[in-house]
Amino acid sequence: MLNNQPSLFHDPQEQSLSEPVHLGAKTRVNLGSFYTPARYVDAVGEWLVKHGVGDGWTIADLSCGYGAFFRLAADPRLAKCRYVGNDIDALALEKAAYVFPFVAFSRKNALVGVEREKFGIGKGEKLVVVGNPPYNDITSQAKQKIKAEIMPVDVDLKARDVGMSSLLAYERLRADFVAVLHPLSYLVKKSNFDACRRFFGNYEMLENLVFPSSEFAGTSRKSVFPVVVGLYKRKEGVGMSFDDAARTVFKTVEGDSFSLSQYEFITAKIAKYPTRRRYKPELLFYTIRDVNALKRSKTFLPRRMPNAVDVDPAKLAYYCYIDAFKRYARTPYWMGNLDIPYDPEAFARSRDDMLDVAMYNNPAVFGRRDLPSPESFERMRTAIAGCLPQFN
Ligand SMILES: C[S@@+](CC[C@H](N)C(=O)[O-])C[C@H]1O[C@@H](n2cnc3c(N)ncnc32)[C@H](O)[C@@H]1O
Repeated sequence: MLNNQPSLFHDPQEQSLSEPVHLGAKTRVNLGSFYTPARYVDAVGEWLVKHGVGDGWTIADLSCGYGAFFRLAADPRLAKCRYVGNDIDALALEKAAYVFPFVAFSRKNALVGVEREKFGIGKGEKLVVVGNPPYNDITSQAKQKIKAEIMPVDVDLKARDVGMSSLLAYERLRADFVAVLHPLSYLVKKSNFDACRRFFGNYEMLENLVFPSSEFAGTSRKSVFPVVVGLYKRKEGVGMSFDDAARTVFKTVEGDSFSLSQYEFITAKIAKYPTRRRYKPELLFYTIRDVNALKRSKTFLPRRMPNAVDVDPAKLAYYCYIDAFKRYARTPYWMGNLDIPYDPEAFARSRDDMLDVAMYNNPAVFGRRDLPSPESFERMRTAIAGCLPQFN
C-alpha cells in the first residue's frame, strides 16, 4: 500500500531524517512530529549494546516518522536485529520505507488496540521499543491555537499527553527495554510521574541524557524545555518510585549533572495554586507552576484575576524570594520544569532584603519605596546564587 502513493521524495537519501519537511506547522504539532537528531539515536545504540542487545532481538519504533532510529542497524553490533516500524503518517512512512527497506512497516494508530500482534511482533520475541513518541499536552497553553485534532486512544492508556499514553502502551507490550525521548517533566513532576505510574512502576531507568527541546528542528528557541533520552529496563512490579526518580542523577548533553534530591524548593512552604483562604491585608500572586512558567508569568498582582493565589502575610518573604528569582536568577534550561529552588539558610539571612527588593520592584502593589541599598541587592543575589549552578 505504501508504495502505491505518489512520492514526495525524488531523492530521499538526500533529505535529513530529523525534520518532517512534508508537514506544515499545524500538522507537526498535531502529530507531535519533531524527529530525533542522529546523536541521540547513536547514544541509544551504545546503551543497547552495553546492556546486551544484539543478534536475536527485535527493535521496534511504533511512531517512527522518517525512521531516524533505524540508523541503529548501521552499527554492526545491531545489524542482525529484526526491525519493526509503524506510524500513522503515510508520507513519513513512504520515506522511511524507501530509506530503510529492511524494516517491517505498518501504518496504524499505535495507541488503539495495543498488543504485540498488531505490529507483527510475537509474544516470545525479545523486544526493545525505541523512539520519540509524540508529546502533545492537550491541556497545555503552548501552541493552543494550532492544536485541533485529538487521536483516539485506548481507555486505559488515556492521559492528558499522548507521550504519557505512549509510555503506557510500551508497558502494555511488555517490552524488555524501552529507549525513548520524553519530556523530563514526566520524571521530575509528581503529578506527571503519577500519570505514568504503570510504566515507571515496571521499568527502571538505566541510562539517561538530558538535552534542550530547541534541538528539535522547527521548535521555539524561546520556550525551551528539557527532554530526556532514557534507557529503561523492564523490572516487573519493581520499577521506579518517585523517590527513585528524585535520586536519579541526570546527565546533560552540556556535561552538567543534577538530581532533584539535591534541591530544596521554596514552593513546599507556600500555596502555589488558588485556595479558598483569604487574608488581610489582601496580597495576590500569580499561580506558580515551575521555573519556566514563572519566567513567563506575572508575580505580585495589583488586582484579583483567575489564577490569583492569596498570599499568607506571614509567608510574604517566600513570595518575595520567588519574585526576585524570576527577575534575577539565570537558570539553565534543564531547571525549567523544577519547582523554585532555594537555600534555606541563605534565605533566612537575607529575608529582609527579599522584602525590600520585592516591594521596590512592585510599586503598583506595595506603593512607592526607596531603592534598596547595593548591599541589600547583593545579599539577595547571593542568596539566590546559593542554589543555582550558574548565576549573574
Ligand atoms: C516525535 S515524532 C518521532 C518520529 C521518529 N520516531 C523519530 O524519532 O524521529 C512522533 C511521530 O509519531 C507519529 N504519531 C503521532 N500519533 C501517532 C499515533 N497515534 N500512532 C502512530 N504514530 C503516531 C507522528 O506521525 C510522528 O511521526
